[in-house]
Amino acid sequence: RKQCMKISTGSKQLDTILLGGFETMSISEIYGEFRCGKTQICHTMAVMAQLPREMGGAEGKVAWIDTEGTFRPERIAQIAERFGVDPEQACDNICVSRSLNSEHQYELLDVLAFNFCSGEYRLLVIDSVMALFRTDYSGRGELAERQQALGQFLKRLAALAEEFNVCVVMTNQVQSDPGASALFSGTDGRKPVGGHVLAHASTTRVLLRKGRGEERVAKIIDSPNCPEREATYIITNGGISD
Ligand code: GTP
Ligand code: MG
Repeated sequence: RKQCMKISTGSKQLDTILLGGFETMSISEIYGEFRCGKTQICHTMAVMAQLPREMGGAEGKVAWIDTEGTFRPERIAQIAERFGVDPEQACDNICVSRSLNSEHQYELLDVLAFNFCSGEYRLLVIDSVMALFRTDYSGRGELAERQQALGQFLKRLAALAEEFNVCVVMTNQVQSDPGASALFSGTDGRKPVGGHVLAHASTTRVLLRKGRGEERVAKIIDSPNCPEREATYIITNGGISD
């Protein structure tokens, strides 16, 4: 039986509340308002995933679905330097696909399934999971159709994570809904988009928000394994840190 692994986020505090990091064979979601560090956590993890197990890595390659054009190889190089990894090699181990629309995003999973057969991949980043679904199905009457397409995408994604022992980390946007604060305690009504379909697919959900000054706060929401705790982190040139 395949054994699941944990991949470090780059922040010891955040790793601690996640009981070691984000897990392979499952889907994790990080969501929050703009500039709180979702994309930066993904960049940091894309380097961490390549590191030896004793450094919080999974000794694996990384696949990245970029829906907003926010992948930055120069950030990878900076983060690699922090961990003493050759920057060029770190970038070579990340296979980036730019997805153009939600249908293309679904089709990319075929390419990934093919690549994952090598057994070398341990992390798949999707930044961000909902952006293209929201653009492609923006009409009021298209919600049901969107959720159905989303459901198909996520079902396939979960199967890939499990079959190939890959950690899926997807970012998501928030929708501000004061009425939701009663349902999502301590989230001030910030809830992820994607509704029940997405909520059902993500095993671990982490809400990010801005803290004091440069500080950012991550909170685990609704996890079956981890208690709802908070951790603070900062964004440095070397990626996510304490
Ligand atoms: P959206 O995608 O817009 O929703 O935001 P996000 O949550 O993905 O935010 P992102 O991860 O892009 O984080 C942006 C923050 O990271 C900003 O506050 C930047 O100042 C910081 N940041 C980005 N690059 C660097 C860098 O090279 N060095 C440092 N120290 N901070 C950086
Ligand atoms: Mg981003």
